[in-house]
Amino acid sequence: MTALLMALPGAEQFAGHLRGRLGCEAGALLVHQFPDGETCPQLTPAVADRDVILVAALNQPDHKIMALYLCACVARELGARSVGLVAPYLPYMRQDASFAPGQGVTARHVARLLSGCFDWLVTVDPHLHRFHAMSELYPIATEVVPAAPKIAGWIAAYVERPVLVGPDEESEQWVGQVAAAVGCPYTVLRKVRSGDREVSVSLPPATVLAGCTPVLVDDIISTARTMIAATQQLKAAGGAAPVCIGVHALFADTAYADLKAAGAGRIVSCDTVPHVSNEIGMSAPIAAAVARMLAAAA
Ligand code: R5P
Repeated sequence: MTALLMALPGAEQFAGHLRGRLGCEAGALLVHQFPDGETCPQLTPAVADRDVILVAALNQPDHKIMALYLCACVARELGARSVGLVAPYLPYMRQDASFAPGQGVTARHVARLLSGCFDWLVTVDPHLHRFHAMSELYPIATEVVPAAPKIAGWIAAYVERPVLVGPDEESEQWVGQVAAAVGCPYTVLRKVRSGDREVSVSLPPATVLAGCTPVLVDDIISTARTMIAATQQLKAAGGAAPVCIGVHALFADTAYADLKAAGAGRIVSCDTVPHVSNEIGMSAPIAAAVARMLAAAA
């Protein structure tokens, strides 16, 4: 029997793309909320002995994670053969250290929660910085789908004479891969973050921008302060308005408008988080990864 694929609220569109590519059955997930705020998931059709795939858009994650956890637990309780998670954006990965006395490594705690209720996880470019592999956090089977090939394809199709710019050292892993695939130069800025919304960046002295289109590439755009600071520096150095590409378009509060107002050129993201900037589709490589997970679970 084919797998049953169900979307958590907010992930319906992406789940539809995946279903089309995988050719599996659509299940219905009713996430009822009682007046007191508690959640009661209801899964149809019957999941007994079926492989269940839950698809979740985990931006603004805190209120979604409890529903996700309960859906997975209920699928197990009702006898699902396996329960997998497609989370194109995986939250909490930036909390990979204790940054101040009294804090903890919350990335570990979220990983423990999800690993306790899912058999496998597929995601796109999780923020692996102080942890270098998903297996350091997640004991379940995981597959990381890289966005670099798709981003490179988009740049090659739409940007003339690109020079790629990573806004900080952490971004070099993505920017280097994308630049290699496009066959264009890249540079990486130095970033200092002194608060949630306080960011400064500096350009390496020999950065050449004349005659090129700067393309900023980062994994996450949250407050957009990183992209804004980089945009300002590039323009101050005589560069054209940069194309800003983020894998995961979190865009907290007014971040999208703020980035536009700061003078960014085109703002583009992958469709791992539903957002008006989504132009780079990730459903094809994610579907391929899910098919591998299902084959391994069979
Ligand atoms: C940092 O570690 C990440 O790679 C991004 O640069 C960061 O999350 C962007 O955050 P914001 O948009 O809030 O500056």
